[in-house]
Amino acid sequence: MPFVTTGDMMKNAQAGGYAIGAFNAENLEMVQAIIAAAEAENAPVMIQTTPGTLKYAGPKCFAGLVSRLARDAKVPVALHLDHGNSYELAEECAREGYTSLMIDGSKLPYEENIAITRRVVAMACGLPVEAELGTVGGKEDGMVAKPQYTDPDEAADFVSRTGISSFAVAIGTAHGVYKGEPKLDLERLSEVRAKVDIPLVLHGTSGVPEDQVRECIRRGICKVNYATDLRIAFTAGVKKAIAEQPDAFDPKKYLAAGRKAVEERVRELIRLLGSNGKA
Ligand code: 13P
Repeated sequence: MPFVTTGDMMKNAQAGGYAIGAFNAENLEMVQAIIAAAEAENAPVMIQTTPGTLKYAGPKCFAGLVSRLARDAKVPVALHLDHGNSYELAEECAREGYTSLMIDGSKLPYEENIAITRRVVAMACGLPVEAELGTVGGKEDGMVAKPQYTDPDEAADFVSRTGISSFAVAIGTAHGVYKGEPKLDLERLSEVRAKVDIPLVLHGTSGVPEDQVRECIRRGICKVNYATDLRIAFTAGVKKAIAEQPDAFDPKKYLAAGRKAVEERVRELIRLLGSNGKA
């Protein structure tokens, strides 16, 4: 299967009433696990990296790794910049071969968010671009944000003035680990859906109860992001392997346990999102 952009993936999901899983990877093992899970479930899949992850291992590293593995994968695989925090990073990712970009100007004043998003859309020359309005709360890449909900009318204006391909809504989700059960503003999601016809994206989904995720998809979400959930699964797998074999010194042994844990979790999540069998 080719290494693909996210355009058709998300349009098919929108038409079919399911969502594409967009899974954050931090290393080789997580990339392998996500692709293996998608193949096992016959699902199109997105791998994504935040700016923090790209500080750890740059766009060259992830683009090289994912594009090569995607070429031999049995399902469509895309590579997306998650929460791109500058024009320069978005440009570097596009140059290195990412097939999808997010520019996150959501913390900027409204007109500045529009301006930077328009610049990235122009630079991307047809690559799909995601942007966000309002703020998903919680902690991502060490930055703490207070949630600020998306205004549906502003959303319609933002989408028509920027030309983006997908739109991230802020409806009460937060990045990181939730302290209590998240309360999502589902009515607001439906209002945004009524005014915006491009694919909608849900951030901060780790810890959101399954019935609420399904309801979000029913109301128009067609890309769902998971990061924290997979970090927890990977770390738990590695910790368990080291606890069972405290004398192990070969990283391959315990990293493989992390990889297996992520693969199992991604398979469950793909089935929750309904993208299984859709490759
Ligand atoms: P979680 O940290 O809740 O998994 O959110 C991930 C996300 O939205 C990445 O953009």
